Amino acid sequence: MRMLITGSNGLLGQKLVAQLLLKGIDFMASSLGVNRNNDCPEENYRTMDICNRDEIAEVFNEFKPTHVIHTAAMTNVDACELNPQECQSLNVDSVQLLANQCLASNCHFQLLSTDFVFDGSKGNYQEEDAPNPLSIYGHSKLQAEEYIKDLPSLQFSIVRTIIVYGTGNQLSRSNIVKWAKEALHEAKELSIIDDQFRAPTWADDLAWACIRICELNENGIFHVSGPETMSIYEIVERIAKHYQLSMDKVKRTTSSSLSQPAVRPPRTGFNLSKAKSRLGYNPKTLEETLDFI
Ligand SMILES: NC(=O)c1ccc[n+]([C@@H]2O[C@H](COP(=O)([O-])OP(=O)(O)OC[C@H]3O[C@@H](n4cnc5c(N)ncnc54)[C@H](OP(=O)(O)O)[C@@H]3O)[C@@H](O)[C@H]2O)c1
Repeated sequence: MRMLITGSNGLLGQKLVAQLLLKGIDFMASSLGVNRNNDCPEENYRTMDICNRDEIAEVFNEFKPTHVIHTAAMTNVDACELNPQECQSLNVDSVQLLANQCLASNCHFQLLSTDFVFDGSKGNYQEEDAPNPLSIYGHSKLQAEEYIKDLPSLQFSIVRTIIVYGTGNQLSRSNIVKWAKEALHEAKELSIIDDQFRAPTWADDLAWACIRICELNENGIFHVSGPETMSIYEIVERIAKHYQLSMDKVKRTTSSSLSQPAVRPPRTGFNLSKAKSRLGYNPKTLEETLDFI
């Protein structure tokens, strides 16, 4: 197996690199610009812009991957809403370029997707449930999914996940758990929504599942998240309890008070039966991971 990782400077990308090194799997990590992951050896790193066809072709010719895990994307949901063209280019056009290169090279293509392909009216979503995205970001990921599903004879997997958290080297953005821990520690006044429900996903568990899918040469859609769905307020409350930090300055609020550009699905969360039975996926609870953050 020879794995090409896109977005290796990102949270999931860094966890993939760490696990591939431990497993001794041959890999090439790639991202935009220089390698910001101190744990990724320079000989395993190449700059590759996912929107640049020539750079992609060069990396394929040199490294000859058997599997691609495509984590790089425009991941800020509100930025996607405000810059739909950039979102289209990063989340859809890049997938078309990479998937076609995979098809030509007989290589498995794995796309990271999102719970935001659903409208959040039901929760506990299964892989077969009908998508109905509410945001430009959700639409872009669904469009990318549909493109690769329609490419005849492409070996592919789609891994949908939900608010991913963890720590990494020089990450370009924070995540809910890291942010809440720091804000609670500084005793900041916080208004936290209690009308959106999610299953927070530890990046290490997600990376394990992504690699497992490739090792088993599984195809199709997999829902991979943390094991419990809870409100955003409950996430913060459980973080405070675990670290024995005060909730005195934390107020409950509702989504409508935030006036964010992108509409979010009220209740997502995944049914994990397929990932558990096919991959042996066994994600940790929020509390089990907090001492690693
Ligand atoms: N994080 C979540 O809560 C969440 C939830 C559902 C689904 N997902 C999906 O899971 C995947 C991984 O998420 P993540 O949290 O690891 O994302 P992330 O930390 O934002 O990492 C994405 C990486 O892509 C890189 N990138 C951006 N544009 C690029 C380009 N043109 N060429 C090459 N690399 C580029 C970014 O570079 P810079 O570091 O330089 O910005 C960043 O390192 C994404 O596809 C995301 O849509 C994430």
